Amino acid sequence: MSTAPTARVFSSDNTAGTSAEILDALAREATGQALPYGADDTTATVRRRLSDVFEREVDVLLVSTGSAANALGLAALTPPWGSVLCHRDSHINNDECGAPEFYTAGAKLVPLGGDDAKIDPDELRAAARHKAGDVHSVEPSVVSITQCTETGAVYTLDELRTLGSVAEEAGLRTHMDGARFAGAIASLDCAPAELTWRAGVDVLSFGATKNGTMTADAIVVFDRSLTPELAFRAKRAGQLASKMRFQAAQFDAYLADGLWLRNARHANAMAARLQEGLKAIPEVRLLGTADANIVFCRLPQQITEGLLSDGYAFYHDRWEPGVARFVTSFTTAPQDIDHLLRAVRQHAA
Ligand SMILES: Cc1ncc(COP(=O)(O)O)c(C=O)c1O
Repeated sequence: MSTAPTARVFSSDNTAGTSAEILDALAREATGQALPYGADDTTATVRRRLSDVFEREVDVLLVSTGSAANALGLAALTPPWGSVLCHRDSHINNDECGAPEFYTAGAKLVPLGGDDAKIDPDELRAAARHKAGDVHSVEPSVVSITQCTETGAVYTLDELRTLGSVAEEAGLRTHMDGARFAGAIASLDCAPAELTWRAGVDVLSFGATKNGTMTADAIVVFDRSLTPELAFRAKRAGQLASKMRFQAAQFDAYLADGLWLRNARHANAMAARLQEGLKAIPEVRLLGTADANIVFCRLPQQITEGLLSDGYAFYHDRWEPGVARFVTSFTTAPQDIDHLLRAVRQHAA
């Protein structure tokens, strides 16, 4: 009997491949002709599917990266003299090379605090009022919420509604970075509508590349008055693919038969398995809440070095010394987790 080699890369969920259903859909799409630039039938089907998922008519722009989705979505919501209030650990603040500032033509990102990379509502309330209407300052315009957060926590519905009402009272628009949106839905087991437009979200970056697609993420637009402008912005940003049908085919298969949720439930279950195993190892201290597919922990140096020498890959020097991050995906197998735990136990001894 042949066994698959153990996966040892836990640095990110984007190290995973592509779901077989999505590859099949690409192969089917590759025959025949279709209209370009999103005028094809498959793109129309994706819009209908996402309207069903969100229980209302939405507009959809398919893009090739999560950073493009974030930067374009924020640009449609924020004037150049505005500010985007976000968590200081957010991807838009730390990992997008200034794309939000560039695409908004100069809006300012204002970093806020809060545990587990969740925005603290009191900090949001204060920042939303800070120098509002003062022509000498940037105008608080948008709050950007990451769901799941960068540390693997998931905002509860109540937490989201609280942020939504603070934003509404202050007249802020709301953007959601959902690079791991499926993981949040799988974790909370709630309707996607509850987590988004019913909580005040105007534009969602609906990630899929970390959870099964090859090169396709989506901007889901709840405030459809923004769509004409977004369409021009996407073209100008080089994000209007001429063969959009291939991005659409990926999304179509991702949404069909609940593949997106199956994949996310699996990734979350693998992180839960890892978390349970690590809990039983006294030398390891878990950090924060692993509600979805990211586990943070504090590891003694000898364990980190031992794992690295075994060929494991994971972030161990990106935050504070001694803090490690393990990310699971839809391709992580239970035995991959069991091997990793065995190695941690060995190096702890
Ligand atoms: C929270 C979050 N948002 C957005 C992105 C953007 O992803 P991309 O690398 O596709 O631009 C990532 C990727 O790591 C992410 O973790």
